[in-house]
Amino acid sequence: MTRLLLLWALLGAPLHPASGSRVGPPRRSFRLDSSDRGLVHFIQPDIHNTTTLLLSNDGSTLYVGARNVILSLDVSKPDVITLKNKRDWSPSEEDIRACRNKQKDATECPNFVRVLQPKNSSHLYACGSYAYNPRDAILDSQTLTLTTVSKGEGRCPFNPFERSTAMTIDGELFTGTTMDFKGANPVISRHFSRDRRPDIRQDSAGYLLDEPTFISSSFDKKEGKLYFFFTEVLNEFHYTMDLKGTRLAQVCKDDVGGQRILQKKWTSFAKSLLHCQQGFDILQDMFTLQPSEGDSSEETVFYGVFTSQWSLGSESSAVCGFKMKDIRGLFSGQYKTFDTVKHQWSTSGTERTNQGKCGLWNATDVVLEVVKKSFLSHVHVRGADTPLMISSGPNGVRYSRLVAVTTQAANEKQYTVLFLLTETGFLHKVVLLGRSSWIVEAIQVFTEPQLVKSLLLSSSKDVENGNVLMCPQSITPPTEVQTDLNEVVTLPCARPSDLATLHWTSGHDRRPLPQKYFLQRPDGSLSFLASAVTLDVYICTSQEARYQEDQVVFNVTLRVPKVFAEGRAAGPQAPDTSAESLPENDNEITSAPYDPNENWSQESMPPRPTADSGTQKNAGEKVLELVRSYQTELVVVSLLLALLLCANVLVGLVWNQRRCAAPSKPQESLKNDPMLKQEPLVTDVKDMV
Ligand SMILES: *[C@@H]1O[C@H](CO)[C@@H](O)[C@H](O)[C@H]1NC(C)=O
Ligand SMILES: *[C@@H]1O[C@H](CO)[C@@H](O)[C@H](O)[C@H]1NC(C)=O
Ligand SMILES: *[C@@H]1O[C@H](CO)[C@@H](O)[C@H](O)[C@H]1NC(C)=O
Ligand SMILES: *[C@@H]1O[C@H](CO)[C@@H](O)[C@H](O)[C@H]1NC(C)=O
Ligand SMILES: *[C@@H]1O[C@H](CO)[C@@H](O)[C@H](O)[C@H]1NC(C)=O
Repeated sequence: MTRLLLLWALLGAPLHPASGSRVGPPRRSFRLDSSDRGLVHFIQPDIHNTTTLLLSNDGSTLYVGARNVILSLDVSKPDVITLKNKRDWSPSEEDIRACRNKQKDATECPNFVRVLQPKNSSHLYACGSYAYNPRDAILDSQTLTLTTVSKGEGRCPFNPFERSTAMTIDGELFTGTTMDFKGANPVISRHFSRDRRPDIRQDSAGYLLDEPTFISSSFDKKEGKLYFFFTEVLNEFHYTMDLKGTRLAQVCKDDVGGQRILQKKWTSFAKSLLHCQQGFDILQDMFTLQPSEGDSSEETVFYGVFTSQWSLGSESSAVCGFKMKDIRGLFSGQYKTFDTVKHQWSTSGTERTNQGKCGLWNATDVVLEVVKKSFLSHVHVRGADTPLMISSGPNGVRYSRLVAVTTQAANEKQYTVLFLLTETGFLHKVVLLGRSSWIVEAIQVFTEPQLVKSLLLSSSKDVENGNVLMCPQSITPPTEVQTDLNEVVTLPCARPSDLATLHWTSGHDRRPLPQKYFLQRPDGSLSFLASAVTLDVYICTSQEARYQEDQVVFNVTLRVPKVFAEGRAAGPQAPDTSAESLPENDNEITSAPYDPNENWSQESMPPRPTADSGTQKNAGEKVLELVRSYQTELVVVSLLLALLLCANVLVGLVWNQRRCAAPSKPQESLKNDPMLKQEPLVTDVKDMV
């Protein structure tokens, strides 16, 4: 089953930055069924294993590659997703028999569509595992008719579980994958080469790549280079155990190979170690964040999420950002040389002569012999401000995918928002501010733990460059609360998340409140007796990790007396000016994280309310109003992002509910499908400020 889920999320929340890169727990949590979120579901019960997503240039059509099928969906409307077209692409009985004869399980023998890329303005390119015998196809992007089908070796993997990467540039296809049945022969190659130049792949020498897992690829237009991100065994280190790490490899887009040496092979292949943080060596996903319009391409940032290769007993991950300028510089430095006799790397670096350069097609044999053996950069790439974020310890999370977007705050400052998928079905929205990061929200997108295979981000054109509110302290106008003297005033304050602590202060100078006169209840509300000295402005601030946010502000004033028809008004009761000002030395009050089981002793309760119900109601209504107007504001200055998520998942909550609600007659195909319990899900998360 494919389930498409459209989720409207508030991107911005008022926040105050603080320093430090360790990330606290999420500030605001939304469950899948949360009414705070508008969710739109698209359910397609007969589609399974959706692993590939491609969004059309105009953002209106989403192409989905799945098991034995390719779909096109209309995603142009904010509140509904509709199916446009569907094309079956299954292996024949004979293909499946051949697959089974090679000892493959029946569940591995369908055609899993692994690559979907634009071919030209009217056609798409697709590649599928096709019963462990990859095939590729050209499709009409409107009708999805398959026009050409040919062998897809080296374009997508035989094994449907293996990760690979592919991208098309001007109709040419660049891939990083394995090209044999066993998955033992990794290759980075160019296909459908233009202008009669040959297709290029990397040199057949086995030491160029060591058991790589391809994660992603990116195009550097200015340099005419492609970067491939992958993990592999780091054979330059001599350890008893295989040490894995993350690599970045480059090739030039227009490489045509050498003339005698390296014929039809990359003359521009070079690789380097990519370092995020000690203990976080395994890249899970890499996202290329293009610079804002007008900025130099040097400002491109590659955001990667890394996990550990060792089992540490608890979940953890780290996020690093790598700057384009550092990556470009990397391949123009020194290189290590591989000794093909001893089968090891020379310890010292060799001066770069021509390694990593584009345009070596007519270089001499001597030069190309050097290029063949010296392709490992001596220097590493380190993440800028490494790491941007670490999630570890008891609240640690293992992230599997990420996307990033730059957005502008109300104060004109640009900042980056990361969307990180956890392996437990949550999407964490993280704001990067200078050297610190903060989880703003956790949105539950999947009901059960599951591995998400692809995450896609698109920013919609009708609402580009929207704003995110980043409010200075106390931007919210105070809610007026009117009271009579000696009345108990209760001011509500909701906790933004279970882990936040609430803190009340008074006055514009934010004085702490003495415990003697004020009571903070477990639900966060503040109670006190109205008197001359307690008529003031009250601010409830939440704190989580090192971030603070004003939740509510109240202005408590005396009730204005009613004016009677006769014209006789009861004069306002003058505040008792003789009252002393509040003592300053008392302990401040602040709340601990909310514990619903906590007992509050009777003595600490305030005096019984005399006439507080009216006051409370008034304040409550005001709070509602405040929240409403605040939300409207958020929506008005809005940025629409579409996050499109694709996954192999278990049956979603909503689907469960649907099935429970309509238990009448399950479709025959559903009932008999052994995979019913482990169905894939496509989730479309549209994000909005
Ligand atoms: C796109 O490619 C297909 C297949 O190669 C070809 O038939 C079609 O004419 C091309 N369309 C355009 C607009 O170039
Ligand atoms: C390579 O070709 C370019 C022009 O095509 C020429 O200028 C250059 O001298 C050639 N280099 C060698 C080493 O032949
Ligand atoms: C609080 O209300 C009083 C009376 O309406 C008003 O004079 C005062 O300016 C208000 N304070 C704030 C901070 O809005
Ligand atoms: C709360 O009070 C109840 C009844 O007095 C008692 O049984 C319980 O243990 C108390 N809980 C805590 C956390 O103190
Ligand atoms: C396809 O989906 C099923 C059910 O979720 C899962 O068990 C299987 O591993 C998936 N196959 C691939 C190749 O992802």
